[in-house]
Amino acid sequence: MKTLPGWYYDEFVHLGMDYADVSQVEAYDQKMRRIRDVPAENNAIMAALALSSNATLLEIGTGTGALAVAAAKHCARVIATDISPAMLAYAAQRAQRAGCQNISFVNAGFLTYDHTGEPVDAVVSQLALHHLPDFWKLIALNRVYHTLKPGGNLFLRDVVFSFEADNYAAFIPRWLAGLERSSGGELAAAMAKSIRDEHYTYHWVMEGLLAKAGFIIEKSEYTAGFLAAYLCRRKLERD
Ligand SMILES: C[S@@+](CC[C@H](N)C(=O)[O-])C[C@H]1O[C@@H](n2cnc3c(N)ncnc32)[C@H](O)[C@@H]1O
Repeated sequence: MKTLPGWYYDEFVHLGMDYADVSQVEAYDQKMRRIRDVPAENNAIMAALALSSNATLLEIGTGTGALAVAAAKHCARVIATDISPAMLAYAAQRAQRAGCQNISFVNAGFLTYDHTGEPVDAVVSQLALHHLPDFWKLIALNRVYHTLKPGGNLFLRDVVFSFEADNYAAFIPRWLAGLERSSGGELAAAMAKSIRDEHYTYHWVMEGLLAKAGFIIEKSEYTAGFLAAYLCRRKLERD
């Protein structure tokens, strides 16, 4: 990895849970299986990207590697990156168990992954971009844009706020209380901590950042006031 200037954001300093050891990673994986339908999400992402069998997909912030392993069955090559070596080790074990030999795991993130070779056909990132402050989100999205081939897609899912800005003091406690009822106090407390410590942003900021980076937002989906999914495309010459 090249030497970065002193003012450059250090994305290897973990915000929130640092997933430093395998027990934290396992706990994260179990939690996700409990609160998300990950196989259905992965199927929907693969359907939206409609990759050809010779395509390359880059995933940024792969975590436990569930999407990377699912994607590896649809395309020629997957590059799965994460800043957490423990996450990558867990994801690599998952790939091995699934018999996937076409995934490269790279210990890097939005701001440090340097792609070499042909630009990729698609990029996926889920629940990871909010680790960066907004200024750095734009740098990250710019880097993603230039890693994609013209016409290539970015699928981005993250916690993004779409509730009314002046309603936060009512919305957030109601959201956390609902989370506590549905998924328990531990998850609600973790979410409260992440609202305080991490860099969730508004949907109009995120849309502005995506547009500023050059993307065409083909589809955006906002759920429950705090989740967003975007299917974006790098422009073609003629766009
Ligand atoms: C909440 S987990 C999401 C994991 C997985 N994408 C999923 O949907 O379950 C966030 C992941 O992003 C990683 N991460 C944090 N900051 C990052 C960065 N700047 N670049 C890439 N990955 C990052 C963390 O190590 C962690 O694995």
